[in-house]
Amino acid sequence: MRYRRWGVLLSGLLCGAAVVALGSGAAQADSPSAFDPHSPTARSITTLLWIMLVLAAIVFVLIEGGLLYATFHFRARRDAAEPRQIEGNRRIEIIWFTIPGILVVVLFILALRSMNTIAATPADALHIDVIGHDWWWEYRYPDAKVETANELVVPAGRPVQLDLYSQDVIHSWWVPELAGKTDVIPGKHNTLWFKAEKEGTYLGQCAEFCGLQHAGMRLRVIALPDDRFNQWLAAEAAPATAPAAGDAQAGAAVFAGRTCISCHAVRGSNAAAQVGPDLTHFGARQTLAAGVLDNTPADLARWLANPQAVKPGNQMPNLKLSAQEIQQLVTYLEGLK
Ligand code: CUA
Repeated sequence: MRYRRWGVLLSGLLCGAAVVALGSGAAQADSPSAFDPHSPTARSITTLLWIMLVLAAIVFVLIEGGLLYATFHFRARRDAAEPRQIEGNRRIEIIWFTIPGILVVVLFILALRSMNTIAATPADALHIDVIGHDWWWEYRYPDAKVETANELVVPAGRPVQLDLYSQDVIHSWWVPELAGKTDVIPGKHNTLWFKAEKEGTYLGQCAEFCGLQHAGMRLRVIALPDDRFNQWLAAEAAPATAPAAGDAQAGAAVFAGRTCISCHAVRGSNAAAQVGPDLTHFGARQTLAAGVLDNTPADLARWLANPQAVKPGNQMPNLKLSAQEIQQLVTYLEGLK
């Protein structure tokens, strides 16, 4: 008897812990949460999630409650005779087929409604190409002829359609506060749409295991008011500013001479390779190495000194640059606003 009480207590504690874990996950301010939607598409998914969660919780409590009640109330007593044996009860059987049947149909209809919302890209959506790479994100704004990486800048309050492609393996684009996860598959064109309802930064993460740096393939969506977005887009469309004298100019020479140029593009210079991220306006980004480091001179120097130490397995080799070359490259690259 004592052990049964402990069992009940333990199950109660486990359920409580699960609820607390779920709640605290939802409330963490600095990590993205699927419970905190800021886009019509994400909201339709969150609503569905809540409905399913609440229905599942009700079913769980009723079934487990019934089970516990029956276990204790009808437990075998030492002197008890064999209970009356019964078989079949049409009324109960009809009830326990009808209620789950209705639940499944209701959930099916709600899921269809969510799927319709997610599939119906508004006609006035801004189209942006997303290309997944091992292990970073390329973003192209075809109409404005802008190419950038890792930080997706969008206009707040306007629908955006992403056209998703992959260069190598399957990735998955997931910014939970804006949209459901969508796979990024080689040889296939997937789309998703969202509308960031207020300006701000929305974080996410590649959600399909894609190799060594899967966890280092972060997502950052920056939603700006319309005028600031247009300013940003115009600045990005412009070619890179020519390096001023001194370290910046020396850095440009290092960039051209030490093979950076064979992987990276800087529009407005000779660098036009498409292997690594486009660096035309690198200095204007908040992070580098797909969100693994902040874009500060110190972190950039650390990255250039040995990219493999920061992000093992990534495609950028250790070029064994001297301290002076690193200093000059940092000045040049941070100047590419
Ligand atoms: Cu890309 Cu995981």
